Amino acid sequence: MLLEKYTDHINEILSRYPVRRSALLPLLNLAQREDGYVSESAMKEIARILRLTPSQVYEVVTFYTMLNLKPIGKFHIQVCRSLMCALVGSDTLVGWLQARLGIRPRETTPDRLFTLSTVECLASCGTGPMMQVNEEYYEQLTEEKVDRILADLKRDGTCSLKSGPFMFPQPELQQVKR
Ligand code: FES
Repeated sequence: MLLEKYTDHINEILSRYPVRRSALLPLLNLAQREDGYVSESAMKEIARILRLTPSQVYEVVTFYTMLNLKPIGKFHIQVCRSLMCALVGSDTLVGWLQARLGIRPRETTPDRLFTLSTVECLASCGTGPMMQVNEEYYEQLTEEKVDRILADLKRDGTCSLKSGPFMFPQPELQQVKR
């Protein structure tokens, strides 16, 4: 369980916030790093730690698309469908992915390798159409690039076409192994 394995880490997170409930997002992030999604038991445990109701935690988990409510594939493909990307072909990009993976958004391939999602703006508006795979960005995508990315990910999980994102370091998360 989350609390048993990460007591010191959780206490360190709690120590950063004068108001206990402010630690909700970091703890949800920790739970997702551990399991790949935020399980019902993790939500209950976090609610108990923060002295919230489980429904208060659930409300937050369902608000943020970066938090997963069920297990996802090894590679989580998130395609931006907001305006700037839509204008340069995000629907076409989703179509390419659907055709190659045989799944629709919110579905996972039978081999548990890929989950496809559509999301709102990923702050890469000038380089659409784009998608995020796990923590990497792939931008200005073409059908050929999509084929190469999927082939590379299937082969060994890496692809040189990735371009970002440029995130601030999150040192507390580097200690957690999935
Ligand atoms: S509109 Fe697609 S990244 Fe912003």
